[in-house]
Amino acid sequence: MIKLILIFCGLSLIFSGCVKNKDENTSDNKTAGTNYDAVDRRVDSLMRLMTLEDKIGQLVLFTSNWDVTGPVMNANNLADIRTGMIGNVFNAHTVTYNRELQRIAVEESPRKIPLLFGYDVIHGHKTIFPLSLGEAASWDLEAIEKSARISAIEAAAAGINWTFAPMCDVSVEPRWGRISEGAGEDPYLGSLIAKARVKGFQGDKNDLSDPFTILACVKHFAAYGAPYAGRDYNMVDMSPHMFADFYLPPYKAALEQGAMSVMASFNDFDFVPATASKYLQTEVLRNQLGFEGFVVTDYTGIPELVFHGVAENDSVAGIEAINAGIDMDMEGAVFYKYLKGQVKSGAVKESQVDEACKRILRVKFLLGLFDDPYRYLNEENEKNLIYHKDHLQAAYDVAVRSMVLLKNANEILPLKKGEKLAVIGELANSKRDLLGSWKAAGDWDQMTTVLDEMKAYNGEENIIYAEGVKSVGDDRSQFDAAMKAAAKADKIVYVLGENWEWTGEAASRTDLSIPGVQSELLEKLATLKKPIVLVLMNGRPLTLVRESELASSLLEVWYPGTMGGKAVSDVLFGLYNPSGKLPMTFPRTLGQVPIFYWEKSTGRPIDPAQPDLKYKSRYIDSPNEPLYTFGFGLSYTTFTYSDMKVSDQTLTDAKPVKLSVMVTNSGKYDGEEVVELYYHDVVASVTRPMRLLCGFQKIMLKAGESKTVEFDITPEMFAFHNREMQYGTEPGDFNLFVGGNLNESLVTRITYKK
Ligand code: NOJ
Repeated sequence: MIKLILIFCGLSLIFSGCVKNKDENTSDNKTAGTNYDAVDRRVDSLMRLMTLEDKIGQLVLFTSNWDVTGPVMNANNLADIRTGMIGNVFNAHTVTYNRELQRIAVEESPRKIPLLFGYDVIHGHKTIFPLSLGEAASWDLEAIEKSARISAIEAAAAGINWTFAPMCDVSVEPRWGRISEGAGEDPYLGSLIAKARVKGFQGDKNDLSDPFTILACVKHFAAYGAPYAGRDYNMVDMSPHMFADFYLPPYKAALEQGAMSVMASFNDFDFVPATASKYLQTEVLRNQLGFEGFVVTDYTGIPELVFHGVAENDSVAGIEAINAGIDMDMEGAVFYKYLKGQVKSGAVKESQVDEACKRILRVKFLLGLFDDPYRYLNEENEKNLIYHKDHLQAAYDVAVRSMVLLKNANEILPLKKGEKLAVIGELANSKRDLLGSWKAAGDWDQMTTVLDEMKAYNGEENIIYAEGVKSVGDDRSQFDAAMKAAAKADKIVYVLGENWEWTGEAASRTDLSIPGVQSELLEKLATLKKPIVLVLMNGRPLTLVRESELASSLLEVWYPGTMGGKAVSDVLFGLYNPSGKLPMTFPRTLGQVPIFYWEKSTGRPIDPAQPDLKYKSRYIDSPNEPLYTFGFGLSYTTFTYSDMKVSDQTLTDAKPVKLSVMVTNSGKYDGEEVVELYYHDVVASVTRPMRLLCGFQKIMLKAGESKTVEFDITPEMFAFHNREMQYGTEPGDFNLFVGGNLNESLVTRITYKK
């Protein structure tokens, strides 16, 4: 028994130490220049007038429905807005509709408290940008911020004041469909992207009361990106070190940028569902990270505690959630049904309801809703800003930047104007698929397809289209038509991949190959011995070994959004030279999964001089290496790296080291290059990755041009949690690697001295 207690105490010490050094990890995430005391005084004086029912209403969030004729709220919910029992609505948009709901809340409800309007504005509202994972492949933080900025402007113009984004879940799980909504496998890149997205949504001044900014929601807290077996909503189990150093950083970065709402994740964490985890929602989030906004559950997260088997009924689940630090119940109807009775019976303290209500009202005040509840409800803005031409241009700019060239043998790309091209594949002529999952309110009727744009640029007479194959199913009846079309062309452009419904939420897969019989058609086309360009439309890493053998060129375009048709065509014809780099590793085989670049050496690494030696950490039937590693991506031009220098071999706290490297565009096209900087901590108190990204710069070089790229190397770049869970940098040697990708880099070594 004593032993058990000791083990338990030890464990809770480790977990409570997850982000132990409070000073280093506490972020001042207050909106710049905001006087919370003044806001809180207004909140307090309002709350003095509120009954228990009024307060509970603020903790309730229900969805609006969307019918073919437009938005509809069910009659009971409308009545509840009127009585103040529903204080927040999601999935409601368009000014006319939201204005009426807001009018009911502020004119007819007892306390006249305005509603929050939430919506999943993930990669665009009407103008849709590339899928989030695709945006991450641009490694272009300005472009990503701009995408979120425009999404916020359009959403705000449509009556929305709160988005359920950004998703900050690091993931090394390509089976998990939701990796499409994140920034990939790297904590550093993920953190910078999380910041860029919050900045875009909430504005660079973090002024939520600006009618063109919307409240961001950091999700899914926490570790939702690590489901066992890659199955959505599945259990998660991870060590405190893994969480603190690899999974927590992007959430933390988003909070540091000032995000004022957080969504609890569906999964369990250290054997407690996140919705019931006081450790996550109070200890880490509030006590360690200093978060002062509110926490909402994910959809029906509270009643799901019953299915997790930690609560015997919904009522108990509600008590667990509020005790954990949950402020708002999304769609669960548990706070709505039970909270009042629980306060009356003493099962929940009224002060807990007060605290949650206060956090929510604080954000409503910050949004300026009490000064003008119709701030986000302006018909003129809705008419003028949605699908604004600048927004479409920005969506195009991000789309071309997100594409990753994986192979280009014999410079088959760029295509030349006037070449006879066979264009094959259902996805070449699809509008809906270009938008991918979570397309918010994006419409596709007016969009153009890849095929339309290729015809427009290359002349209809030079494009021979045959659908050939669907992206799902096993219909081979059109194979012959595709072969006939291909036989007449100089080159074959085959657009293939995953139907949009195969990625996103609840779209986990056990097989990462290209679905259906699409690859079978490729085998046939290859018998024609003509150059084949594969255009890959998908939302996760796929296994492409055979495809990369059969095709001359591979271009990963993800789901490129509203302007995707033109963006794909322009990149194929060289109007934009691809510059994207993979934000996730592409495995050779499913059996390698999870595979990610920041793995550690193990005690039995492969000896490069004797790679076949047994009893090493390796497979007997596959190389350890992936097909395409994180950070990989080609260009129509080539870049060479030389003259790597450090200003000093010794790094100290007082003196950062300057690392410089010369990058030359040694090919014949102008182009952008992502210069990547990785490090390895040679000896540390805990095992550390063989490579970890710690810097990058995206630069433009004209053909023949050279530039010196500089990085400031500081000790903080190498910080991690040591054996005692203390955060800091340990003295010793660090190898630094600079290059266009992990496998081809220049190396140098510096020593950090305290
Ligand atoms: C469930 C998803 O997990 C979450 O990300 C989303 O924001 C909510 N549904 C609301 O749509």
